[in-house]
This record gives sequence, C-alpha cells and structure tokens, in this order.
Amino acid sequence: MKFVKGQTESLYTNHTKSQELFARALKVVPCGIYGHLGPAEGCMIPVSAYPLFSDRAKGSHIWDVDGNEYIDLMCAYGPCSLGYNDDDVDAAALAQLKRANCTTLAGDVMVETAEYMVNTIPSADWAFFAKNGGDATTFAMMIARNYTHRKKIVMVKGWYHGVAPWTQKIGYGGIIEEDVCNNLVVEWNKPEQFEALVKKYPGQIAAFISTPYYHPTFVDNELPAPGYWQKIREICDKNGIVLIIDDVRCSFRLDVGGSDKYFGFEADLQCYCKAIANGYNVSMITGKNKFKGAAEGISYTGSYWLSSMPIAAALATVKKMKEVDYAGTIKKNGLAITEGWKKVAKDHGFDLKVTGEPAMWYARLANDFPSTILHQEWTAEMVKRGVFVTSHHNNFAPFAISQEDIQYCWDAADEAYKVLAERHPDANFIK
Ligand SMILES: Cc1ncc(COP(=O)(O)O)c(C=O)c1O
Repeated sequence: MKFVKGQTESLYTNHTKSQELFARALKVVPCGIYGHLGPAEGCMIPVSAYPLFSDRAKGSHIWDVDGNEYIDLMCAYGPCSLGYNDDDVDAAALAQLKRANCTTLAGDVMVETAEYMVNTIPSADWAFFAKNGGDATTFAMMIARNYTHRKKIVMVKGWYHGVAPWTQKIGYGGIIEEDVCNNLVVEWNKPEQFEALVKKYPGQIAAFISTPYYHPTFVDNELPAPGYWQKIREICDKNGIVLIIDDVRCSFRLDVGGSDKYFGFEADLQCYCKAIANGYNVSMITGKNKFKGAAEGISYTGSYWLSSMPIAAALATVKKMKEVDYAGTIKKNGLAITEGWKKVAKDHGFDLKVTGEPAMWYARLANDFPSTILHQEWTAEMVKRGVFVTSHHNNFAPFAISQEDIQYCWDAADEAYKVLAERHPDANFIK
C-alpha cells in the first residue's frame, strides 16, 4: 500500500461488487449480513464509505471483493489476534485437520490444550471448550446457579455477554420477562451498589458477571479504579457469590495469563473467545476446582465443540503469544497509532479522546460531544483512505503491523482531519 496524499480517497470508494452481493444477500439472508459485521449493527456510517464483503486477508490487511486493500484496525472485531492467516497457527491447524477434526472420539489435543491453559492462567484449575463467547458466558451463569442454587445475576450497566436470552433486555425481539427477570444491574466502578443489592437480596445472588474493564459501545471506556476488583472479590467471598469474568473480548490481549491476572485478582470462572485461536472457531471457560462438580452436573455440549482443528489452533496461538510477547507488542502498537492520531487531530483543531486499554482503544472526537457525528465522518474518511475502523466500538491493535503501515495510519488520519476541518469551518476547534 502506498499513501498518496490527495489521491488516495478515490482508490477506496468503488464498492460495486460489495453492493451487488449485498442486494443478492438481502433476498436470501435475513438482514443481508446480520449482526456486527452487517451495516446496521456494525454501525457503518455512512454505509457508502464501507465495503461489505471480503475477498482475502493476510497479516493486518484485508482486501474487499472490489479489490480495495485496507489496514484492518478491527481485527475481525477481535478474533484476528496474531494476524490473518498466521503461518504457524495455520500449519498447526492443518496438521491436526489431516489427522482428525470432528470425530466419534474426543481428540487427544483437547487434553494437551487444557493442560497448557491451566498452566498458563493462574486462576484456572480446569478448562472447557465450546464455540462462541456466548457459549462460555452462558455456561458460567449456569455453573454459578448450579453451584449456589440461587437465581439472581448481577451485571454492569451497558453489558454485552452475547445474545443468549438471559443476556438480552426486555423489549428486544423474542425476549420474554422470564428470560431476564433475575438480572440485577449496577454501574461500573461502584462496588457500593453491589453491596446494596447483596443486602436487598440476601442469599439470592448467584453471580457477579462483568468484563475486566468497562468497554461497551458508544461510550468512553473505563479502567477499574484502584482496589475495585479486590473489593468485588471480597463482597463475593463474604456472600458466597460466584465471580465471573467475561474476558471474551480482552482475553490474552492484556495478559496471556488472563485479564484477572492483569488486574491483580482471581476470578472464579473466566470466559475466553476472540483472540484465543487467531480466528479458528473455539471458545473456552476456565474455573477453580470448587466449581468443577457444578460444571460436571450440567448438560452442555454441541456438535462441533470438541472439534480438534480449532483446539489445535488455540494451542498454537497461545504458545506463540507467549513466545512473541503478544500483549506487550499490541499495547505498543496501539499506543503508537493513537498517540500519532491525537497529534495530527490537534494540528487540525480536533480533540481526539482515547480511552480504555491501548491494545483495544476506544476513540471519539470531543469537539462535538455528546454528538458523535464528526467522529463518524472521520472514520468514514479513514475507510475511504484504506484504514478500516468503526466509530462506535473499540478498535483492536494489530500484532502484525509494520512501522510503514503505522505511518500510513497517521498520514491517512492527517488528511481525514484536514477534510473534516474544511467541511466544517464552524466546528468547535481547539486552539
Ligand atoms: C464482552 C463480550 N462478551 C461476550 C461476547 C459474545 O461472544 P460471541 O459473539 O462469540 O458469542 C462478546 C462478543 O462480542 C463480547 O464482546
């Protein structure tokens, strides 16, 4: 890719094949493309700036069906951890595929991988494999209920723990009151609200479930206040409540030993998915020994959950993450990209606010707060210049990104802010 100032925009605005495919998809697939990869839930605004279908991917780059090439700062919304088509992970996965994948007997690689995970993650005494993050969070909720014989689950406002009915909200399509009537909600970083609920519902709360730090969509992300997790741990211990960490999005990105380790505490149950196998379809839940019996007492499985190829990919991915200091590298890459962006934003009078962990930063322009319009326009200008970002969700720092590509991201940002400043001469510019 070569950044050519003033010329690049026109290179990335042809989405003819994407649009043709989307028109066909709309006839035979609900929503055309459903969920977070689709234009509606993916909040690709304006849709005209975004490609919709990919052709191929390698490292930190994706190519759409019209032949446009992008530096991908969304990493498939998380699963692409080491880089698309990582040769080492693919070799391990393909070697396993040649031996066996989905068979009548469990694959031996499951045992080796569970042992490896237990030795890597301090709070893990056992590991259980499934497919998606929602399988893991739902299993954790069921284990907590089976262990405590209680019903209520405490969640943090703005939660996303997948799409199983118990994680949704009343008023959402297909959801009935009974699905969600045992959910209680507290605000992030407010352990006193959790304490109040424990008093209000004595002996009734099965679990506290939360992401390790606050990373919902559309809002600034927040790290745990000093002592926050220790306080939550203490309340859970005192009241027999199971502490579940939904590490589906962060896992391995902050610390290969789990995000509880990163923030200095131990979860009872921890859920992993996105980064674990560099895009191969497997998720995992780990837990402490005392919950193993409760896990064993639950009927929970799926046709493909013990498929060996994705599990072999997970083993290869996590082994490589340790060897290459994955978490340290993506933190450095995320900082480099966002510090550069903040500087060029300021040069054009824009105040770019970056929150959350550098490995998965959340960014917005503060100039028109609480509106997000300027930032949406900026992300669209970036996509038009070959840098794939979205405006409402945290981004993911790529591991396999070159210094040249980081420079490209800065140059594209510089030009995108310039376009924005010219288009909005009345914006609330900073001096
Ligand atoms: C924090 C969190 N939990 C759970 C999930 C659900 O994972 P999946 O979509 O793999 O079921 C996600 C997915 O984005 C997530 O970010």
